[in-house]
Amino acid sequence: MAFTHQYHLLIFALCILYVESADPSAQLCNSNSNTTTTEITKNIDSVLTALVQATSQSGYSVTSFGSGQAKVFGLAQCRGDVPNDECSSCIQTAAKEIKTICPDRVDARLWYEYCFIRYNTENFFGQVDTGYGTFYYNVQNVTDPKTFNNALGTLMDRINKVASAPGNKGIGKDETKLSDFVTLYALSQCTRDLSPLLCRQCLAIAVGNFPSYCDSKKGCRIIYSSCYVRYELYPFFFPLDEKLALESSSMTNYISVIRKP
Ligand SMILES: *[C@@H]1O[C@H](CO)[C@@H](O)[C@H](O)[C@H]1NC(C)=O
Ligand SMILES: *[C@@H]1O[C@H](CO)[C@@H](O)[C@H](O)[C@H]1NC(C)=O
Repeated sequence: MAFTHQYHLLIFALCILYVESADPSAQLCNSNSNTTTTEITKNIDSVLTALVQATSQSGYSVTSFGSGQAKVFGLAQCRGDVPNDECSSCIQTAAKEIKTICPDRVDARLWYEYCFIRYNTENFFGQVDTGYGTFYYNVQNVTDPKTFNNALGTLMDRINKVASAPGNKGIGKDETKLSDFVTLYALSQCTRDLSPLLCRQCLAIAVGNFPSYCDSKKGCRIIYSSCYVRYELYPFFFPLDEKLALESSSMTNYISVIRKP
């Protein structure tokens, strides 16, 4: 009896872990877009297969399949600090889930913490898209807003420069000590099809949401189709030890807001 009970607890714990890792941070199945046809669905399948293969190897890829109005454009990218095996498993899940979540629309996007995948019959490559946004903020406030905001501003400027500089694969990440005991961690990233100028623009728009949505909050995430920024008072980017990785995936205390164009 005791054994059965423990066994059930273990299954239960595994299920929680599974659900957490399988939950997207954001999703868009654009209801203003056209519905798919058999030909488009075939092209979406080809795009997804190609994206999974190429992104698993290099962390980023763009591709297109088909012709005329059935042509489908796809992009996939892992967060730049994420190791290959995590990237690969994230993109495989994303490619599978995006079709389940969005079976009929030609404009679909799915964001996970470690990767992002998107397809559309319209060519979106190289364009800044900050129309649809998902924001997360920690309801808890920092104790010293003035010091915090100064440090955050300086840190974001620094990592945004790195993210938008050529050759850095669109990612910037760094940390800064607020006191002997408290460290602030931040990461910013653009999709790698953006030019340095457009990446800077996207990150500026993303950080511009801090005063309205994340003012003096202990953590914040701004998720757009073209760029992403996040800060926390704990380490959340790789290299990470397992305990901290679990802590960082916990979204207790966070509220999400969806902003539509
Ligand atoms: C929807 O399809 C029509 C014709 O098939 C095309 O002209 C139009 O641009 C498409 N709209 C979108 C949002 O893809
Ligand atoms: C944080 O500060 C805001 C604004 O001062 C306040 O409305 C809110 O209740 C505070 N949140 C917590 C969890 O204390």
